[in-house]
Amino acid sequence: MSPTTHRIAVIAGDGIGREVTPPALAAAAAAVRPQGIGFEFVEFPWGCDHYLKTGRMMDADGLDQLRHFDAIYLGAIGAPAVPDHVSIWELILPIRQRFDQYVNLRPMRLLPGVTGPLAGRGPADIDMICVRENSEGEYAGAGRIDHPGTPDERAEQTGVFTRRGIERIVRYAFELAARRPRRLLASATKSNALQYSMVLWDEVVAGLQPEYPAVTVQKYHVDALAARMVTNPGSLDVIVGSNLFGDILTDLGAAISGSLGLAPGANINPERRFPSMFEPIHGSAPDIAGKGIANPIGAIWAAALMLDHLGHGEASQRIVRAIEGVLAGGRVRTPDLGGTAKTADMTGAILGRL
Ligand code: IPM
Ligand code: MG
Repeated sequence: MSPTTHRIAVIAGDGIGREVTPPALAAAAAAVRPQGIGFEFVEFPWGCDHYLKTGRMMDADGLDQLRHFDAIYLGAIGAPAVPDHVSIWELILPIRQRFDQYVNLRPMRLLPGVTGPLAGRGPADIDMICVRENSEGEYAGAGRIDHPGTPDERAEQTGVFTRRGIERIVRYAFELAARRPRRLLASATKSNALQYSMVLWDEVVAGLQPEYPAVTVQKYHVDALAARMVTNPGSLDVIVGSNLFGDILTDLGAAISGSLGLAPGANINPERRFPSMFEPIHGSAPDIAGKGIANPIGAIWAAALMLDHLGHGEASQRIVRAIEGVLAGGRVRTPDLGGTAKTADMTGAILGRL
């Protein structure tokens, strides 16, 4: 195999994950082809169907199988026949945690040509990126249930926050903010109510601030930040938040950007000790699965983030420009954007521009 071939593990998963993954891989391949770079895509049939057949979401040694790939591309996971906490805790979260993909990077942009739900806002007003902590916090899996099934039942879900874990994500966010034109960093906190975890979070942010004098950092309680994303999104640039806060804020960010179907995400291990994983932020959408109408843009944009991570920044930009061009053209619109185009139409339009 030539050194310019990247080996990618592909888990298309469930529902529309299977419909949007092929367009994403096709776009990635088309974007790097001119440079003589290729991909070897190795598909893994893991997900809820696999679970219903075998009792497992992925093979018992699944993580070992994935570990030597250059990256992982994930479509979506989840199906009505399998409880979500099972499918998620046996596939997505183990990959994120075991491969120490502690950065979940999620751009939130109102792209030209898209009508968002906020009146009077254009692309210049909504151009943010969320740096979501992706390895600890409320997703650490710590907790317990006492007296199950009785009236005294009691559940505890512990948020786990470490100084090291906070510091590495906040540092990543500072570095990112320093490279962006506006150099603004918003830290999502809730230290008025969460007197242990979020007080530590604030302390770490304040401690790093002197190292980044060019970055203006502002802390917001997460509830106020959610409101600000709606009332004054133009005042926001880079947002850093804990795992759960980042999860919620990025769905909000996708919604104000016009559609959940447009938003991409990257689960990154910055030290590259393990493969990083790229996925659209939407789920498997069982309600529209099989109809061929899913918007492939979130998935294709996620493939662009993968190219960037693999060192092909220019090819990545070409994909983003192709997406922008198609949306600005205004002709091809999937139903989530108010049109009648199919997944294949949107894919064809974007590939045509590549
Ligand atoms: C996301 C999803 C996941 C998360 C779910 C599927 C566990 O909502 O990637 O945002 O909460 O991280
Ligand atoms: Mg989410």
